[in-house]
Formats: sequence, C-alpha cells, structure tokens
Amino acid sequence: MSVMGILDRVADVAALDKAITPVRRAVQGVLKPQALRDFLHGTWLGHPLHPVLAQVPVGSWLSAGVLDAVPPLRPAATLLIGTGVAAAVPTALSGAADWAEQEVGVRRLGAVHASANSVALSLYVGSLVARGRGRGGLGRVLSYAGLGLAAGSAAIGGHMSYAQSSGASHAVTAARALTRDWIDLGPLDDFPEGQPALRTGKGEGSAVPLAAVRRGARVDVFIGRCAHLSGPLYEGSVEQVRGNTCLVCPWHGSAFDLDDGEPRRGPASTPQEKLEVRMESGRVMARLPARHR
Ligand code: FES
Repeated sequence: MSVMGILDRVADVAALDKAITPVRRAVQGVLKPQALRDFLHGTWLGHPLHPVLAQVPVGSWLSAGVLDAVPPLRPAATLLIGTGVAAAVPTALSGAADWAEQEVGVRRLGAVHASANSVALSLYVGSLVARGRGRGGLGRVLSYAGLGLAAGSAAIGGHMSYAQSSGASHAVTAARALTRDWIDLGPLDDFPEGQPALRTGKGEGSAVPLAAVRRGARVDVFIGRCAHLSGPLYEGSVEQVRGNTCLVCPWHGSAFDLDDGEPRRGPASTPQEKLEVRMESGRVMARLPARHR
C-alpha cells in the first residue's frame, strides 16, 4: 500500500470521531461570528485562505533549516523561526474554520494534520526558548525535529486537498462533465419567479443538474452542485446576503451572488460556476463559459 493509501485508511477510522466531535463543537463555538468565519475561510478572497497563510510558517521554517546549517547565519534562522511561529497561529485558525465545515473523512485526516502541526509548533517554541537561553545546539535539534514533523504534516494537508478535494471547487468538477453546446432549458414562462428551479444539462454519460433563478425577464443559471461540498443548490433559496441577491445552499448556507457567482457568505470560498444565458424565441438557452470550452 502506498503512503497515501495509508492516509485513506486513517480517514476510514470512525473511532477518531469520538475525540473529534467535541473539538469540532469547540471550534464552531469559538469561531461563531459569521464575519470571522468568512474571513478565515477566504470567502472575501475567492480562494481558501489557509493554503495561502500556510506558505509563511512552512517557508520560514524550511529556510531556517538551511540557514541553521551555516553557523554565521544562525541568528537569521532564529528570526525566521519566530516569524513562522507567529504566522502559525492565524494559519491554524483558518485551517480550523475550514476543517469544522468539511465532510467526515477530511475531518479525521485533518485531526491528524492539526495534531502534527501542534507538536511541530511546540518544538519550534521550545527551540526559540533554548536559543534564547544560549543552548543553540538543543535549539537546532528541536527545530529540525519540528521541520520533519511539519513537512510530514504538509504532505497530509496536500492529500486532503488533492485526494480528498477539500478546498477544491466541486462545482468546477461537475461543470467538466457538462456538454459544451448550448442547452435548451425550456420556455421562460415555465421558470418560477425568484426561486431556484432544477434543470438538467446533457453530460458525459449522465445528466448534470443546474440551478436556474428567474428574476423577471432575466434568468441566472448555475451548476447545480455547490462549490463547497456539492450540495444541491437547486433546492436552496434566494436571499439578500450583505446587500446582494444570492442563491443560498441548503447544506451549509454558502451564499453565491446571482449576478456573478461570487461567494458572499461561506463556508464556500470559491465562486459558483455560472453559465452563459441567452433567450431564443422565448426559450432559455445556457452553456458553459469559454474557460470550459
Ligand atoms: S455544500 Fe456546503 S455550503 Fe453548499
């Protein structure tokens, strides 16, 4: 079995949930304000914030490891370790916000990722203390141990992103299966006003659900699977969110601007895929935007 296959086995271990459930509840309690959660998710950025922030501790600690190998450069290594320790706090908070809203297998692996990072952070804090007390040798041992652990943990984080699709747009994945041609969604008069309607488009082998919202003579059409975790947007609602008319996902409440698909409320941090629309003899026609064709 590959190393990554072992990680999948860990994601299958339901016994972890006993420890995870109270921690998840605590994270949700601490990060209760929606504005704080949205900031940490990266909803304002249109991209998950956690992998952006993670560059700082990982990059700082890796660079410190190189500088520590050159004796005259060790003071600079200490500065970089301190930078990484400081950056680890907001990085962990953004990761925790995402983790609490992920599906069960990602939460299990995420718990391992967070535990390894916490130990790595403790080793780096210990390293700073040791260096401050003039025990440079011990400081370097602790920081190299922290680097090894942080690197392993970063690999787990990569597996969560690439193999478990956490943080990836599930709407983009669904869009790839949709035909590149114009899709006839039926007469405009058949669309209900101001609420999502389910339509389907031809896909590779199976139909792809679409969520269409009519506002007067205008219809906005989106991939029907939510960018966050594939929730059924066509079963959602249309609401005003922060002054924008949004399509709201029924699963975790992500809100996507009807005008451009941008997320206005998380946990989604990426836009919802929106189709081009034109009217033809009173019928609504839609097709994927040019980036998919
Ligand atoms: S699936 Fe989570 S908000 Fe839509």
